[in-house]
Amino acid sequence: MANILVTGGAGYIGSHTCLELLNAGYDVVVYDNLSNSAQESLNRVESLTGKKLTFIQGDIRDSVALDSVFAEHQIDAVIHFAGLKAVGESQQVPLTYFDNNIAGSIQLVQAMQRAQVFNLVFSSSATVYDEANVSPLNEDMPTGMPSNNYGYTKLIVEQLLQKLSLSDQRWSIALLRYFNPVGAHQSGQIGEDPQGIPNNLMPFVTQVAVGRREKLSIFGDDYDTVDGTGVRDYIHVVDLANAHLCALQNRLNHNGCRAWNIGTGKGKSVLQVKNTFEQVNGVKVAFEISPRREGDVATSFANNVRAIEELNWTPKYNLEDMLKDSWRWQQQNPNGYRD
Ligand code: NAD
Ligand code: UD1
Repeated sequence: MANILVTGGAGYIGSHTCLELLNAGYDVVVYDNLSNSAQESLNRVESLTGKKLTFIQGDIRDSVALDSVFAEHQIDAVIHFAGLKAVGESQQVPLTYFDNNIAGSIQLVQAMQRAQVFNLVFSSSATVYDEANVSPLNEDMPTGMPSNNYGYTKLIVEQLLQKLSLSDQRWSIALLRYFNPVGAHQSGQIGEDPQGIPNNLMPFVTQVAVGRREKLSIFGDDYDTVDGTGVRDYIHVVDLANAHLCALQNRLNHNGCRAWNIGTGKGKSVLQVKNTFEQVNGVKVAFEISPRREGDVATSFANNVRAIEELNWTPKYNLEDMLKDSWRWQQQNPNGYRD
């Protein structure tokens, strides 16, 4: 069975993917600088699976450390989650984002090339699509100029990887364009653990419900949508994790670089999310309507046919599952991994 290097594997999506990899029989080496995560997530992955992984604390911008990872472990493929993801922060410190996400990704693929490892799955985002596209978004639609520096780094790395794969036939690269990952493993043991005030809807909802924040601000109720609030394609993190295993399989017998949308194909509004969360969990979420957030689009959801047909992947969980699982994680870990 193959040995997979998972950069950023201690984080939210990475830890869920490590769990699925171990359960499927892969060997896992996690490489993470813990700048936005805790090693406790990996301890829990090991206890949930009853299997061991290798953890190396290191930075993807450190080429010497990366070379020794490849020298010491016989790596077959890399899943590359490591990066910074806070949209607001990326506007304040763009160079930090360019350095971690763009320069870091270049360091990683250079180390892969030196080690002759050419299989890569990259965490991209639906944010790379041009805002003028009308949902459902498919992979043949044009990319645009993302409204923030975080999104810009995803677009640049996608383009670098596409050009790299054209230069050398041995590269086999999957670009997974995530829609809105939410939820947690059903055990309630691992989940999303944002530092500070959450930027994203789901952790904000659960933190209001658990009493850590007073109320949810709904950013705009005057969009041209079902109820005026923004519509997104929420995808269960366990379904998303499994898409990485499917992409690894696909890349074993294909060369080149190809993008896949990872979403359910269903759009849900902010009010639908809040109301469904209250119904399935029997808990109230105080809220107010606030002005629109800069950079938001009204509606974004996926056409996921390419992933279903080519990756042999199917999302299994619906919105109710996502909201129950998010709440279980939050209740069991009101302060995330810092208990
Ligand atoms: P996360 O912050 O929980 O995980 C990222 C991990 O990378 C963290 O453990 C962090 O410590 C590590 N890291 C950051 N910079 C590093 C560096 N220079 N060297 C080594 N490790 C480093 O985030 P996540 O939600 O799990 O996201 C994983 C990936 O998916 C990211 O690349 C993110 O941009 C992308 N993505 C996330 C979302 C989302 O909504 N969560 C959506 C689209 C794409
Ligand atoms: C945001 C980022 C996107 C990034 C993605 C994953 C922006 C403009 N976009 O996407 O670049 O790839 O997160 O990290 O920041 N909402 C509220 N109240 C809140 C939070 C969110 O009403 O407190 C609304 C938003 O307006 C949106 C929906 O909830 O309609 C989802 O928001 P969010 O979870 O931040 O995801 P995106 O905006 O899709």
